[in-house]
This record gives sequence, C-alpha cells and structure tokens, in this order.
Amino acid sequence: MTPTPGRVRLRRTRATPAMRRLVAETRLHPAELVLPVFVREGLTEPRPITSMPGVVQHTRDSLKQAVAEAAAAGLGGVMLFAIPAVRDAVGSQATEPDGILNLAIADAVAEAGDALVVQADLCLDEFTDHGHCGVLTPTGTVDNDATLVRYADMALAQAAAGAHLVGLSGMMDGQTAVVRDALDDAGHQDVAVLAYAAKYASAFYGPFREAVESQLEGDRRTYQMDPANRREAAREIAIDIAEGADVVMVKPAMSYLDVLADVAAASTVPVAAYQVSGEYAMIEAAAANGWIERRRAILESVLSIRRAGADHVLTYYATELAGWLAEETR
Ligand code: PBG
Repeated sequence: MTPTPGRVRLRRTRATPAMRRLVAETRLHPAELVLPVFVREGLTEPRPITSMPGVVQHTRDSLKQAVAEAAAAGLGGVMLFAIPAVRDAVGSQATEPDGILNLAIADAVAEAGDALVVQADLCLDEFTDHGHCGVLTPTGTVDNDATLVRYADMALAQAAAGAHLVGLSGMMDGQTAVVRDALDDAGHQDVAVLAYAAKYASAFYGPFREAVESQLEGDRRTYQMDPANRREAAREIAIDIAEGADVVMVKPAMSYLDVLADVAAASTVPVAAYQVSGEYAMIEAAAANGWIERRRAILESVLSIRRAGADHVLTYYATELAGWLAEETR
C-alpha cells in the first residue's frame, strides 16, 4: 500500500511565493533596524576595520553622511560609538562636552534627529586607557559604585548633546536606576534608557575590539554574564525594568536565541537584540569564500533574530538590508 499523508499536507502553504508570503509569521521592516556606527577623533578619511569588511571608523563628516543614509533608508535608529584620541584611567573624554562622542551625537541629531532615534553607547571602555567598562580600584578590579557616578555624568553629557536614547552597555549593577535618576533630576525626562540587560561575556565581540582600538587585556567576566546561564537573564531583565529601562536588550543575538525568546515572553517593555561584530564577521568571511550566499544568509540571520522575539535588531547590515527590503514585496 502506498503511504499517504491523509488530508494534512503542509506543502500546500509552501507551494508558491504568493502563498508563502501570505502565511509568513515574521517580516522585516526598516523601522525595526538600528545601525551601529563608529566615529574616530582626528581622522581625515574613513578608516576600514579589517575584521569587519565594509564597516569603517568614520570621520565626523562621513558619519553625518552615514546617518543621513540611515534616515533615508527608513531605519529606526543609529547607535553611536566613538574612539577618542586620548584615553585615561577614568575615561575623561566621555564626559567632556566637546568629547568626540558628544560632538557626534549633536552632529547626528542635527543631520537626521527628526527622522530616526539617535542612540549613544553609554560605557567607558572606549575612553579608558585600560579598556574596562568602568573605573578600577587600586587592586585593578572594576569598581561598580564608583563607575555609576561616571555613568550618571556621561548620561548628562549625552543628553545635553541631544541624544534621544542612551544605551547602557557596561553591565554594572544599578546602572539603569542611577542613570534614570540623574536624567530626571536634570530635567531630561524625555531621554530614553536602553538597558543591555542580558549582555554576555562573548568571544563574538572580537572584531569590535579592533573597531574601537580597545586597550583591554583580559576579559569582562566579572561584570558581563556567563554564556552558560539562561535563567539568570530573567533576573537581569526584571531588575532593569524595575529600575526604569524603556527597552531591554539581549546581546549577542544568534548564539542566544533561547535567551531572547525567554526575554521576549517575559518582558513588559520592547526587546532589542544586537547582532554583534563577530556575527557580522562570520557571515562576511564565509560569503567572501563563496561558502554561503551572502544576501540570503544576512536576511535569514536577521529574520531569525526577529522570529525569536526581538522587536528591533541592532545590525551592521541595517542600511543595506533596508535597501533590499524596499526591493522585495515580502
Ligand atoms: C561596550 C560594548 C561592546 C560592544 C558593544 N558595546 C564590547 C564589549 O562589551 O566588549 C560589542 C559590539 C559588537 O561586538 O558588535 N561598550
């Protein structure tokens, strides 16, 4: 007897592009994409980042252009990272009004502040000469509570520069509450706080270290999460929401889709995910070798991050991907 599948044939809804489009459960939209960008003080030309082919350290001028393109592509936002010319133990340039990050925020707001959300990385690692995300105790460990004082000042500098949203990526305990209070006390009630709530100590940040010329020796395991832990992410998220986070993030994305799905199910605020530098680099390297189809792999990777539960995605592909979405009917 020939085996038959009976009445149920799942292939019916896969048979044509139109049918697949009708039943697709997840769709990508430019408004759900955020482009991370790097700006470096003192550059006269954009400088390529070797481990992230196609991504550069911008000059202030080329950054403005990238922000304008992001706005024209309909992106939801840009996330700014900056590399200062001079670093010190406390990351002084992070809080100087004319520090490179604060200048770049003002540039981005002037360029496209009505069209997208200008977001800024709020962390000290780009600004310290030791490369840690906070200030150190005399014995060299990261001093949580002394760092919070710096973060509060940094938030005020970024808000004064016009940032719409500050992205707390340092993984210090209490950072969301301290920054929220500092902003509110200074009259910046409208500046939103994105908490990198579940940020793991990941090898996939490797290329980012080149992008920001990180001075770090060692690792960040005393403050970022252990990749072994899933349940712990729920605590991070609950605390950040209780402390006033407007958005919570899971980072990296692709190796943490289980965490992302948990967070999406439990969160009462929007959930972001960050497709980080190493995820980008892996796709680029494999595609350059002809081992995977670049465009399909990029679309699939970002789609899967959305499917797992991210409301929006930070990805170095944001502008390019938005261009493809405009071409497709999906
Ligand atoms: C810290 C920060 C890092 C990234 C974003 N913010 C590096 C780290 O925690 O070591 C990584 C982003 C990426 O890899 O794309 N300011």
